[in-house]
Order: sequence, then C-alpha cells, then structure tokens
Amino acid sequence: MLQDRRILLIISGGIAAYKSLELIRRLRERGAAVRCIMTAAAEHFVTPLSVASLSEDKVYTDLWSLTDESEMGHIRLSREADLVVVAPASADLIARMATGLADDLATTALLASDKPVLIAPTMNLMMWAHPATQANLATIEARGVKRIGPGSGELACGEVGSGRMAEPLEIVVAIERILAGAARLAEKRALVTSGPTREPIDPVRYISNHSSGKQGHAIAAALAALGADTVLVSGPTQEPSPAGVRVVPVETAAEMLAACEAVLPVDVAVMAAAVADWRVETATGHKLKKDIGAPPVLRLAENPDILASIAQRGNDRPALVIGFAAETENVVENARRKRLRKQCDWILANDVSPGTDTFGGDRNTVHLVDADGIEAWPVMTKREVADRLAERIAQHLGVSCPRGS
Ligand code: CTP
Repeated sequence: MLQDRRILLIISGGIAAYKSLELIRRLRERGAAVRCIMTAAAEHFVTPLSVASLSEDKVYTDLWSLTDESEMGHIRLSREADLVVVAPASADLIARMATGLADDLATTALLASDKPVLIAPTMNLMMWAHPATQANLATIEARGVKRIGPGSGELACGEVGSGRMAEPLEIVVAIERILAGAARLAEKRALVTSGPTREPIDPVRYISNHSSGKQGHAIAAALAALGADTVLVSGPTQEPSPAGVRVVPVETAAEMLAACEAVLPVDVAVMAAAVADWRVETATGHKLKKDIGAPPVLRLAENPDILASIAQRGNDRPALVIGFAAETENVVENARRKRLRKQCDWILANDVSPGTDTFGGDRNTVHLVDADGIEAWPVMTKREVADRLAERIAQHLGVSCPRGS
C-alpha cells in the first residue's frame, strides 16, 4: 500500500527521535519514499548522517541553505509529498504549529503544506497535560491535523505516565490508514453549514444562539480529509478554518441560503448550522435609543429554512442531504418528524438539553435517523462524530473502503 507513496518526515527534538530511524526503515521496507527534515533540536538526538543513510535521500535542515533552496525549496518539499508526518512532535513544535510560526525549515514547510499532516507527540507527562499543550493540540486538530499517541508508560525522564511516542509500526499503520482514506471522496463535492446566524435588530444588536460551530467545522474537516472538494458556509464562530476547506463567512440566514445556493451542485450537503428561526422584520438602520419612551416591540419574521429548501430542489438537489435536529425532549421522535417534514435523507438527532453540554462542548450524543430506521451512536467527541459521518457518507455515495483501511 505504501509503494511509491511519498512521505515527508519532520523530526523534531526529543529522545524518541531514535524511534524515527526505525520508522524510516519500516517505511522504506514497504516501498515508500521518505524525505526528511530535521529541526536544530533533533540534531542533538540523532545525526543527519543516520537519517540520510536510512532514508537514502538528502536530509534537509536549514531554511537558509542556498543549495537546498535552489535544489528543492521548502514549498516543493511540502507539496511533493502525499503526507507530512511529524515524529517525534515535541511540545515546542506543536506550539509553533498552533501559532503558525515559520521560523525554521520544519515550520515553514508545515505552514506551506496543503497535504494531510500526522503528528506523533512525545514529551514529559506534565508538559503533555499542561493546558497550553492541550490548547495547542485542540487548535491544530480542529484544523484537520491527525494524531497518533502518545501512549502511557515509563518516559525517558524517569517518570511514568502519558507522553511516550507511538511505536514505529503503529505510526506505519496510521500512515497507511490516512493514505488509504485520503482519496476516497476525491471526485465528490461537499457543502457544509456551521455555526449560528446573526439577525440584526439594529446596527449594534442582534439575535443569535449558542452554537460554537465545532461540529460543523469538524464535519467539513473530515470530508476534506477524505478528499472531498469541501465548501464550509459558516456563521460567526471562534473555530479555526479547517485545512483544505474553502470557507464562506456569512452573518444572516438569508446570506447563508444564498451562499449555499451559489455552491450547488454538490454530491452531499450537511446542514449543521444553528440557523436563527426568526429575524427582526423591522431591523433599523440606526441604533435604537432608550429615549423613545417604552421599550421597542420587535416584530419577528420567519427565516428561510435552508435545509428544507436544499432538500426540496429539483435537478440540482444533492444526492445526499443531511440535517441535524437539536432537541431537548422526544429527541428521536421529533427528529423523525423533522426528517419527513424537511425531506432530507438523514437527520442526526442530538440532545441539547441543559446538562448535556452539547452547545459549545466537545462531546455529542447522536442518533442517525434515515428511511430505514434509527441508529444510536455512542457518546463521542464532535471530531469522532464527524469522522464516522464522513465514513458513512463515503459508503453511501458508493465509494468503497480500500482494503486494509
Ligand atoms: N435549519 C435550516 N434553516 C433554518 C432552520 C434550521 O437549515 N431556518 C436546519 C439546521 O441546520 C438543522 C435542521 O434544519 O440541520 C434542524 O434545525 P433545528 O433547529 O433542530 O430545527 P428547526 O427547523 O429550527 O425546528 P425547531 O426549532 O422547531 O425544532
């Protein structure tokens, strides 16, 4: 499966760098071409000569090398790979990835890359558990970076806990999975909506809701990771744009509908946005002042239903239209009725009642409702829900799973 696949391996500074030598061997055995970048810190742990010997290629270490840049610039290094693997990924390199720094060859190649990225973190257990590291990880994972490990056990520093780099063969399996999956939706186009909408009351006030955009953004990232040409139409959120996804920012429901229509035709549409049901019919062009006497009375008008309108289109209806049903009671029954009423193919019903922490939280409890019935999914992270949904979409669109993935 790895025959002639091109891996760009970035080795950062950590005692586990010795395992990267083994990783190179395992990849070469399977026929992969491995090109390596080492950070300055990595050179304290393994030598460029060992890395070059095992990879049977030149090793790249210096952003400012005139020879290297003229032979194989940092842009080409990152573009001429099928996958970028960072192993070991130190706390420092993860932090620099999260911030988007480009102060050496490794970070510059990562920033210039449009390829899938897999990291194999390793560090002391306190560094791993530190909120800064966890926040940096959350940032890069939300952008679509994949991670393997770390595992638990005795660490090089003598302490015992989480922080051991995954074993080379585990990393090889993760690489095979990603490369097998990467092209599965290559010929497909996907539209995803995410986040809340904002309906203006006047130039400074609006009606909106608590949607964080986490689930919709994760779905767009998962579809793009399977190779779909993905457009994410999103209301205002704090979520970073997922890698390889075209993001169309919108504010109101009317703008969201127009943006979605402009993206058609697509093969699959996933409507995960929490669209405001009503807008203020009489939004004013000037700020409402208190000196008008009584508080203003806001007359509301119903917003267009984007999911229903996409699901009920004619010739350019997507082959698969998927909605969400945010419910606080009778979750599955309401979702079943919502699916029929809106005429979408699948509904993911999620319980958003107080205490579930679905809005804004990282977890989601979902039931998939389709014409055949109801499938209860276990409580999962929003990213796991996204990956499972993307997998189901690929199966439904007739793109079979390659062997071994
Ligand atoms: N939706 C939409 N446009 C709207 C309202 C909802 O596209 N104007 C979509 C959402 O993106 C979601 C689905 O419809 O995929 C269901 O949203 P939900 O808020 O659960 O349902 P509503 O239609 O708003 O019904 P209600 O609030 O009465 O439950």
